[in-house]
Amino acid sequence: MRGLRTIELPLPRNERAARRPSPARRAVRPTKGLPMREDTGPDTDDPAYERFHFLVNAPALFNAVVTAVELDVFRCLADRGSASFEDLRQFTGLPAHQLRVLLHAVCTTGLLERHGGDYANSRVAGTLLVSDGPDAWRHILTGWKEVYFPAFARTGEALRAGTNTALDAHPGTEPTLYGRLAHDPPLEAVFHRAMSAFTLKSVDALVAHEGFADVRALLDVGGGDGTTSTRLTARYPRLTSTVFDIPSVSKIAEQTTAPDFGERVRVHPGDLFADPFPPGHDAVLFSHVLEIFSGEQITALLAKAHSVLPSGGRVFVYGYNVSEDETRGWYSARLSLYLNVLASGQGMAYPARDYERWMSEAGFTGVRTLTGFPYEHGLTLGTKA
Ligand SMILES: C[S@@+](CC[C@H](N)C(=O)[O-])C[C@H]1O[C@@H](n2cnc3c(N)ncnc32)[C@H](O)[C@@H]1O
Repeated sequence: MRGLRTIELPLPRNERAARRPSPARRAVRPTKGLPMREDTGPDTDDPAYERFHFLVNAPALFNAVVTAVELDVFRCLADRGSASFEDLRQFTGLPAHQLRVLLHAVCTTGLLERHGGDYANSRVAGTLLVSDGPDAWRHILTGWKEVYFPAFARTGEALRAGTNTALDAHPGTEPTLYGRLAHDPPLEAVFHRAMSAFTLKSVDALVAHEGFADVRALLDVGGGDGTTSTRLTARYPRLTSTVFDIPSVSKIAEQTTAPDFGERVRVHPGDLFADPFPPGHDAVLFSHVLEIFSGEQITALLAKAHSVLPSGGRVFVYGYNVSEDETRGWYSARLSLYLNVLASGQGMAYPARDYERWMSEAGFTGVRTLTGFPYEHGLTLGTKA
C-alpha cells in the first residue's frame, strides 16, 4: 500500500446517493486491483513530493495571491477580523463566481482560512501581506509580477542562447534591464520600489555590522534609490554616503530617499564601467550589484574601487551567496535565473569563495566573508593595505 493514499471523491448524483443520510461525501479507499493513487513514488513521506505538487501549481497560485493583494483582500480581513463571502464580494467588486475561484485558490496556499462561511487571514498572511509600508511584500510581489515573472517563461530560450533574450520585451538598446527601464519610468518606479522593499528585508543585518562604525565617507556603488545609504547614515551619525547609479535611478533616489538626509546622502549619476568612481571615500560598498556581472567584470570593478581608496580603506560586498555546494537557496536560484534570462545575461548569486578570490586578485588584503545573514546573504570584506 506504500504510495497509495486515501482521497475524497464526490458521490455520483443519483437517486440512492441523494437519499442517503450524511455524510454527503465519503472517503473512497483504494481496493486491490483498482488503485486510486496520487502521483507519488515509493517513499510517500519524502517532502519533495509535496513540494513538487505545490511547485507545478505555483505560477497560477502566485498570481492568485497577488490578485488578492491588489484587491486588498488581506487588508480587509485584517481590519474586520473575518468576513463572509458576500462581504468580500461587495468589498472586491468581483463577480461571485470569479471570487469563489480566487478564494479557493488562495485558501489552498494556506494564506486564507475558511471557518464555516467566513474567511480570515492565516497568521502568515496577517504578518506578511497586510502592510503597505516601504518594506511590504506587496511591493515585492508587484515587481516580480510585472518585471520578473513574464521573463521566466523564456528561461529555456535564454539559457540556450547564452544571453538575456527576455530583455527584448523592454524598449531600448541598452544591454541590461537597468538601462532599459529608463525608457519606461512607471515600470522603473515599480521595479525600484520592489527592490527597495526587498533590500529593507536584509539591510538591518548589514547596517549592524561593526565595520561601518569608523567609516566616514562611503561610496555606495549601484546604490539604487538610496535605501541602503539612508539606513546606514541613520545608524551612524558621522557617516556620509555617495550613491552612485545610472542617471534615471539617481533621479529616483533624489525624489524618494535621499532628501531625508540632505547633505549626508548625495547622489552621483554615472555608469560604473564607463565613468570614474568619485574620490574622497574611505570605504566602497557593493550591495546587490556585483552579482549582475561576470567574474572578469567584477574583478575590474573591485580593482577600480581599490584604486580610489586610501591605504586602510575598506570594501564591502553584500548580497546573495549560493550555498558552497551550489544545491540550496531558493532566493539565490531565482536571482541567478532572473539575471541570466532578463537583467544582464550573466552573473549569479556567486558563492562567497568566488568573491573572496576576486577581491584578493583586485589587491585587497584581510579578505573574509561573514555568513548567516537573512535571505541567503553574505558579507565579504577586504582592506586596502
Ligand atoms: C539590484 S540593484 C541594487 C540596488 C541597491 N544597491 C540595493 O542593495 O538595494 C542594482 C543597481 O545597480 C545599478 N546599475 C546596474 N548597472 C549599472 C551601471 N552600469 N552603472 C551604474 N549603476 C548600475 C542599477 O541601476 C541598480 O540600481
